[in-house]
Amino acid sequence: MFSFFKKNNKPRSNKALTATINGQVIEVAPKETLLNAALRQDIEFPHSCRVGGCAACKCQLTDGKVKELTDVGYILSDEDLDNGYILACQSVPKTDITIKLDVPEKTLVQTIGTITAQNTLTHDITELKIRTEETVEFLPGQFADLTLATLPDLQRSYSFASANNSNNELSFFVREVPNGRFSGAINQQELIGESIKITGPLGDFWLRPAQNPIIMIAGGSGLAPIIAMLQAEVKQSRHRPLLLLFGARTQQDLYALDSIKKIQQQWTERFEFLPVLSEEAETSDWQGLTGLVTDYIEDSIQPDSHAYLCGPPAMIDAAELRLKQSGVKSEHIHADRFLTQTPLTQTPLTQTPLTQTPSDTASSDVVSKTQQSA
Ligand SMILES: Cc1cc2nc3c(=O)[nH]c(=O)nc-3n(C[C@H](O)[C@H](O)[C@H](O)COP(=O)(O)OP(=O)(O)OC[C@H]3O[C@@H](n4cnc5c(N)ncnc54)[C@H](O)[C@@H]3O)c2cc1C
Ligand code: FES
Repeated sequence: MFSFFKKNNKPRSNKALTATINGQVIEVAPKETLLNAALRQDIEFPHSCRVGGCAACKCQLTDGKVKELTDVGYILSDEDLDNGYILACQSVPKTDITIKLDVPEKTLVQTIGTITAQNTLTHDITELKIRTEETVEFLPGQFADLTLATLPDLQRSYSFASANNSNNELSFFVREVPNGRFSGAINQQELIGESIKITGPLGDFWLRPAQNPIIMIAGGSGLAPIIAMLQAEVKQSRHRPLLLLFGARTQQDLYALDSIKKIQQQWTERFEFLPVLSEEAETSDWQGLTGLVTDYIEDSIQPDSHAYLCGPPAMIDAAELRLKQSGVKSEHIHADRFLTQTPLTQTPLTQTPLTQTPSDTASSDVVSKTQQSA
């Protein structure tokens, strides 16, 4: 969660505003994000992706006004927005501001583990198994930041792929991205016996207690937190009607089918599993669904469903749109976007996400609730 990257040089302008974070006053240069200002001044502000995709930097604006660089409505719930929550990495102060951090750093734990297995799931996804020295407490669906001893300057976020760490074993699904430094190492190098640092838990992607039907949509390695959530539900004997849509390119990109089948067999309510292939050759023997996973939402959805989406940002944006069009309330849509991290040293003062949608480019002003009601 906390950066190993070198700190930014001090921004050029002399005309700084101030941000008071849990009582501590720092300066914020013009156009500087709250997160960059805090990190530059050695405040260990919770953060991970730095591009508005993980909500790790969520904090409450209790006084003042900020300009938001992206539409944070995709990440924060309506309730959060009503209560003045902002993303520090996407907020540039327009006035002096006061910030309340709900999740202080002390709640985070750093644990050292040892890599015990690298299981090939597909041609580009490896299951990383780690034995930890201490038990890591997390909610199924959350993620951790990992740092390999062999790559000490890299910190990358990965969702827990198991329901808990009760036997001091952790599992992560790591998809190799082209030229990816961390994911390349996990998929290409022999790392068994190597030490790895786990920082977390992070994020607010977990299954909310309710009786409503669930729709889960996963793309690629986005199946990791979904499996963790479902395994936990089975363990707790909590069952409700469930539709799981899994988007992959071709048959060779499908994985964890045995784990899903096992969960399905133990599920006492309706459990529908629909894999959808987007690039399967027409001449193949595939009998299942083809196209985009999001094309099947409207046909299968019940409007009172609660939705859990995980995977590439573009898939999540498209799925959110379809869900809302189908009547699912935005407060019942929870998502984890697998965005790429941007090193702080390379983060421009005015940053935009690496994966943009039209709404991502919008910026808006947020005024603290105190000011709004004043
Ligand atoms: C909250 C959160 C949870 C995540 N959970 C998982 C998970 O469970 N499993 C998983 O595999 N990944 C997950 N990710 C993504 C992961 O953190 C890394 O960003 C990813 O593995 C790439 O890291 P890297 O060091 O290999 O690539 P880098 O060296 O950082 O990037 C190399 C190149 O690949 C591009 N790139 C980076 N990421 C992607 C991508 N996702 N798709 C396409 N191109 C990319 C970069 O822009 C760059 O050009 C998660 C991300 C977030 C924010
Ligand atoms: S660090 Fe701000 S949303 Fe991820």
